[in-house]
Parts: sequence; C-alpha cells; structure tokens
Amino acid sequence: MYLTKLLSTVTAAAVLSAVTLPAVAEQDGRHSIVLRPKEQAMMLEDMRRYLHGIRKITTALSREDNAAVEKAARELGTIAIYEVKPIANDPLVPRFRSLATRLHEEFEEMADAAKEGETPNQLLRRLSKLMNQCVKCHETYKTGSYPQQY
Ligand code: HEC
Repeated sequence: MYLTKLLSTVTAAAVLSAVTLPAVAEQDGRHSIVLRPKEQAMMLEDMRRYLHGIRKITTALSREDNAAVEKAARELGTIAIYEVKPIANDPLVPRFRSLATRLHEEFEEMADAAKEGETPNQLLRRLSKLMNQCVKCHETYKTGSYPQQY
C-alpha cells in the first residue's frame, strides 16, 4: 500500500517535472528551480534577508560607519551559505549554486574591506558590483514548488 502510494508519488513528480517545467519556463523565459515547499520558503526568506542586509549596508555607508557595514555584510557572508536541493535532477542547478556562492563570497570580501578601512565610495562600488549577482540570477531563475505531500 505504502509502496503503491510512493510509486504514484514518484510518477506524479515525474509527470509534474516533465509537464510543468517547460510550460512555466515558456511564460517569461526564466528557468524554474523546483524545491520542496519548506525549502522554497526558506530560500525566499533568505532573499528577504539579502534585501534587509543591503538596506542596512546603504544606511551604514551614508553614515560612513565602516563597523556597521562590516557587521551587516558579515551576516550575509560565507557563514550564511547553504545548498539548495531541488527535487528534480536539474542541470541548471550548479550555475544557480555558483551564483549564490559567489554572492556570499562578495559579502564576505565587503566585510573584510570595510574592516580594512576602504572608503564609503569604494565600498559602494563593491555593493554595486555585488548586486550584479542579484540581477543576473533574477533574470535567469525563478522558484517553483511541488504540493506539500512531496
Ligand atoms: C542564485 C540566484 C539568486 C541570487 C544570487 C539572488 N536571488 Fe533573489 N531570488 C532568486 C529567486 C529564484 C527568487 C524567486 C523569484 C520567483 O520565483 O519569481 C528570488 C526572490 C527574491 C526576492 C523576493 C522574496 C520573496 O519573499 O518573494 C527578493 C526580495 C530577492 N530575491 C532579493 C535578492 C537580493 C537583494 C539579492 C542580491 C543581494 C538576491 N536576491 C540574489 C534567486 C536569487
């Protein structure tokens, strides 16, 4: 009984990935990274932390407060890396991961640079470069999730 349910779940997942992904991708050209609902929620929460962190960094820069820049950037640095585990075997995931990893490394480098006394202008240039990763990834990917039972 359990096995039948499991098999039908796997089949449903296979059908969903075969049918939904190309259909979704066609609508706006972005590729869907399909995650379990909990993981999708976690990833989007992380995204909101990025936005919050960038607000803290810009505020700190406007006050020429390097210590606050360092603190906000460090919170989003390599300590915050986790790997997304998509439900389907997706060949575009490694690129997604490498964009995310690069972003965390750039936050870490920004924290170091603030600590070492870079000027607000230099730090602002770093922030602008770092935000290329946000833009690149958002242009290429979006998220999708399977229904909760998967
Ligand atoms: C590795 C890829 C990637 C990077 C890098 C990235 N994002 Fe995202 N972000 C996504 C995806 C995928 C979504 C979901 C978009 C969708 O499904 O339409 C998203 C969604 C968001 C959202 C919406 C969150 C929600 O609750 O719906 C915000 C805000 C956001 N990103 C901010 C940022 C900021 C700021 C940066 C850079 C500091 C950034 N992201 C970098 C992939 C990325």
